[in-house]
Parts: sequence; structure tokens; C-alpha cells
Amino acid sequence: MSSDVHALLARLPGFPVLAGQRVRLRGPGAADADGVFALFSDPAVMRYWTSVPMQVRAQAEGKVEEMCTEFTHRDRIHWLVTERRGDAVIGSCSLFRFDARRRLAEIGYALRSDHWGRGLATEAVSLVLDWGFHALALRRVEADIDARNDASRRLLARLGFQREDPPRPRFIAGHTLADAEVHALPAQAWQARGR
Ligand SMILES: CC(C)(COP(=O)(O)OP(=O)(O)OC[C@H]1O[C@@H](n2cnc3c(N)ncnc32)[C@H](O)[C@@H]1OP(=O)(O)O)[C@@H](O)C(=O)NCCC(=O)NCCS
Repeated sequence: MSSDVHALLARLPGFPVLAGQRVRLRGPGAADADGVFALFSDPAVMRYWTSVPMQVRAQAEGKVEEMCTEFTHRDRIHWLVTERRGDAVIGSCSLFRFDARRRLAEIGYALRSDHWGRGLATEAVSLVLDWGFHALALRRVEADIDARNDASRRLLARLGFQREDPPRPRFIAGHTLADAEVHALPAQAWQARGR
């Protein structure tokens, strides 16, 4: 069977729902506009994001539509994170920039600030990594973060990512010039965890 990332993406029978002990990751739908707005309009969440906080709910409606279309085209996979019991959106996690030749993808994640410090993001990102390394046979996952984003760096280190390049200046949220860092996790390092 082909291990080409795009062929594996194309063969997915539907949106891959992932369930852990405390969180569940599912696909987006029109009913999620309020939850997506609450997440991406929070200035604390958007502090180091590549876009500015949403101002109006219509932006969240557009974002949900875009997430659905990107899954239809298998360009990006945007999971919405909920607690295991309950269906309200408390975060998101995405795989994108699929590179078939290098069997590589990039990961991004955000959690509502009233849920920080509980280990839920670590669990959600772990589920996505596990899925990406198995279902898509990825060899490597990268994260591109603002060098000032200590919570994100701690999360990546906890999961075994290592910083790749020296930080380089990059515009964040369209306004600020800040250093960005690439952190990478090879499949072997992920599979060696817990051995
Ligand atoms: C990055 C982000 C998702 C991390 O969220 P978080 O709450 O720190 O991450 P977790 O949910 O995994 O929680 C981990 C923390 O909870 C603590 N914790 C408490 N109970 C825990 C448990 N049962 N299991 C694991 N960790 C637990 C950990 O010790 C850790 O604390 P520390 O960071 O002080 O070491 C969050 O800061 C965020 O959404 N930021 C805004 C969006 C963003 O910048 N995303 C990254 C851009 S790619």
C-alpha cells in the first residue's frame, strides 16, 4: 500500500475522530461558530498567533467554513478539541503543510485560556501526533513558534520536540517583528517514547 501522504489523506473515509482519556478531537461544523469565536477572539490565546484576535462572530463562521473546505480538499486537518464529556469547543489542533517527499507536516494548536495548565493540550497534541505518525506514516512533524511563547515551547519539549534552527525574525500577528523557532519531532523519537 502506498505511504504517500497525499494518497493516504485522499483515502481517509471521513474525518478522523480521536479520543483520549480527557479530551476528544472531532471535525468542525456550522454549530461550532460560537466556540471557535470564543477561542480565537481571546487576546491571551492570540498573543503569539499569526493573525490578530477575531472581532466579530462572522469571522468564526468563515473560519469554520474554511476548516471544512480544507478537509474536503485534504489540504489541512483542523480538529476541534472538546472535553471527553461534553461537546463544547475548548481548543483546536491542526496538521498542515503536508510535504509528501519528506513525509513531513506542521502542527498548530490552541486551548481556551480558562483550560490552561491542566495537561489537556498535551493530551490533544499527543493524539494528533500518534495519528499522524501512524495513519499518514509521517517521518517528522514540525512546529513553528514565536520564540517568546514559553507555554508552547514547554509543551513541545514535554512531547520530545527539539529546536532546529537558530531563531529568525518573523512578523507575528501582522504587527510585531519577533523571533520564530522551528521545533521538530522525528517519528523514531516519538515511537521510542515510553519504551
Ligand atoms: C500552547 C498552549 C496550548 C499550552 O497550553 P497549556 O495549558 O500550557 O498546556 P497543557 O494543557 O498541556 O498543560 C500543561 C501544563 O499543565 C500542567 N498540568 C497540570 N495537570 C496536568 C496533567 N494532569 N497532565 C499534564 N500536565 C498537567 C503541567 O505541569 C504544565 O504546566 P507547565 O507548562 O507550567 O509546565 C496554550 O498556552 C495556548 O493555547 N496558547 C495560545 C495559542 C498558542 O500560542 N499556540 C501555539 C502556537 S503554534
